[in-house]
Amino acid sequence: MTDQGGERILVIIPTYNESDNIEPIVTRLRRAVPGADVLVVDDNSPDGTGELADRLADADRQVKVMHRQGKEGLGAAYLAGFRWGLDQGYDVLVEHDADGSHQPEQLPRLLEALERADMVKGSRYVAGGSVVNWPKSRELLSRGGSWWTRLMIGLPLRDITGGFNAFKADTLRAVLDDISSVGYNLQVDLTWQVVQHGFKVVEVPIDFIERERGQSKMSGRIVLEALLRTTAWGVRHRLGQVAALFKSA
Ligand code: GDD
Ligand code: MN
Repeated sequence: MTDQGGERILVIIPTYNESDNIEPIVTRLRRAVPGADVLVVDDNSPDGTGELADRLADADRQVKVMHRQGKEGLGAAYLAGFRWGLDQGYDVLVEHDADGSHQPEQLPRLLEALERADMVKGSRYVAGGSVVNWPKSRELLSRGGSWWTRLMIGLPLRDITGGFNAFKADTLRAVLDDISSVGYNLQVDLTWQVVQHGFKVVEVPIDFIERERGQSKMSGRIVLEALLRTTAWGVRHRLGQVAALFKSA
């Protein structure tokens, strides 16, 4: 299906144990952006999320489901979803959490901004954005992550780790082979590659509301992947800047 501009939009929702959340979020998405298709990418959730998604797909041609073997990480699920969406010829691809933290009603705002950008990041930390019900510790981790990433690779963005993002297909097509993160660091990896390729990234304010049902899958291992990778890119990036200085001197 298409929106009014004739563009085919795919909203990708990765799921792991989201049985309480999957139906409400798909319903809200379908209502907020009726032209967009929805792809649920389920990692064989033990709680039956995949079967619930199949039922939604049976009732609605615009809902699709990808079943994966097991829990391989948020990044791996998105990469598989992107590849499928590009193969199917979608023009716009969107990342969206299943747990109600992202507001489908704010997706039109992202899509509108994408008319003037190659990637749009939903941003909690620009004017008009917010975080609701996060423990102080999690907000510190998130703000700290964005701060460290800015320090390391110098990205001029406020909310680098955010997971509510919209891409033009051409943007993803250009960067996908250079992405290797399997965990949540995918978000940083994607943003960094998009900027490195010279594409335009725009942040628009979103309200991030912490989930009421189910559990976050964030873990120490995920944080470590992000920290190690961002630091490695930072060292490489800064050494490159120094080398360029010497060359021009
Ligand atoms: N298929 C699959 N496989 N889905 C997963 C996996 C996985 O291994 N891990 C998490 N998910 C799904 C969840 O089911 C949910 O729909 C979404 O990915 C986000 O997972 P949460 O566990 O709720 O993440 P969070 O709230 O801690 O983190 C959110 O905010 C971060 C920024 O602060 C996400 O949007 C992250 O992408 C983002 O970096
Ligand atoms: Mn969440």
